Amino acid sequence: MNTVIRPLQNSDIPTILEMTKKTWGGHDHLPRMIYKWLSNPQCYPMVLDLDGEVAAVSNLKDIDNGKTGWMEGLRVHPKLQQKGLAKLMTNKLVEIASEKGFKRIRLVTATMNPAPQKLARNIGMKVIDKYSILWKRYGRGIKWIKDDKSIMEIDSSEVLGFIRSNSELVPTNCLIYHWDALEANQENIDIMREKAVFFISESEQGKGLSWGFRNETRHGPEWCFSLYASNPEVFLSNLNFHLKYAREHQLKDLLCIHPKKLKKYYDKVKWLKRRAHEIDLLVFERLL
Ligand SMILES: CC(C)(COP(=O)(O)OP(=O)(O)OC[C@H]1O[C@@H](n2cnc3c(N)ncnc32)[C@H](O)[C@@H]1OP(=O)(O)O)[C@@H](O)C(=O)NCCC(=O)NCCS
Repeated sequence: MNTVIRPLQNSDIPTILEMTKKTWGGHDHLPRMIYKWLSNPQCYPMVLDLDGEVAAVSNLKDIDNGKTGWMEGLRVHPKLQQKGLAKLMTNKLVEIASEKGFKRIRLVTATMNPAPQKLARNIGMKVIDKYSILWKRYGRGIKWIKDDKSIMEIDSSEVLGFIRSNSELVPTNCLIYHWDALEANQENIDIMREKAVFFISESEQGKGLSWGFRNETRHGPEWCFSLYASNPEVFLSNLNFHLKYAREHQLKDLLCIHPKKLKKYYDKVKWLKRRAHEIDLLVFERLL
C-alpha cells in the first residue's frame, strides 16, 4: 500500500463528500466546512492518498493569532477504518503544526467517540476543558418564570474586560463558539461578533456570560448559544433568558453549550427533563 499525505485539492472534494455522506447518520457538518478550508489561507487541509485514492481528510487551522493549530474534520473512509490511517494523518498534522511554529495544538471531540480520544492521547494531548451540549425544541408547554432582570446585551468591546474581571467564569480562558474553542482575546471576540450577540448578568445571585447566534442548519435555523455561570441560579435564569430570546426571534430549536459541571442542574428545570439530544465535549491540548 502506497500512502501519501498531501494538501487537499478541489478535485478531491467529490470523493470526500461521498465518503462522509453517512457519517453521524448523515449529519456530518464537513460538507459545509470543506470549501471554506480551501479558500481560507489560515487553513491547511490535508488528504491521505492511498494507492491513488483519497482515504482520509483533516484540517489544521491557524487560530488565536498564530498561537494555536486547531485540528478538525478528521475523517477516514468507512471501508478503511481501524487500519491506522487516522494515526498517520494526526501525526502529519502535528508535524505541520511544529513546522508552522504554533505554540500548541488543540482539538475538540465528543466523549462518546473513543477513537479521536485515543488519537489525541497518542500524540501527547491532554484534556483541558469539558463541555456539555444539549439540543431542545421548545413547545407550547414550556412555562418558566425564573427571570433575572440583570441580564443585558453588551457591546463586543466590553466582553474581554468582563472576562478579565470574572476569570473564574472562564478558568481556561477558552471560549466555546459552536464547535470551536477560541482563546479569549479581542481578535477572536471580533470574529464571534460577526454573527453573535453577547450578554452578561451581574446580581447578588452571581454572574453570567453568554453569547448566541442564529445558526442555519439543514433542518432550519436554530439559536446556538454558549453559557457560563457562577452558580446554578444564574445558569437557570440565563437559560430561561435564551429560551425567551429564541422565541422572540421565532427560533424553535435551541443548541446550548455550557461547562459540563452545570449539567447536573438540568433536573431543576421541568422542560429540560426531556431533551432531544445531548453530548459531552472534551477540549484537548498539547503544548509544542
Ligand atoms: C475517528 C476516525 C477518524 C478513526 O479513524 P481510523 O483510521 O479508524 O483510526 P486508527 O485506525 O488510526 O485508530 C486510532 C486509534 O483509535 C482506535 N479506534 C479506531 N476506531 C475505533 C472504534 N470504532 N472504537 C474504538 N477505538 C477505535 C484504534 O484502535 C486506535 O487505537 P490505539 O491507538 O490504541 O491503537 C474514523 O473512525 C472516522 O472517520 N470516524 C467518523 C468521523 C469521526 O468521528 N471523526 C473524528 C471527529 S473528532
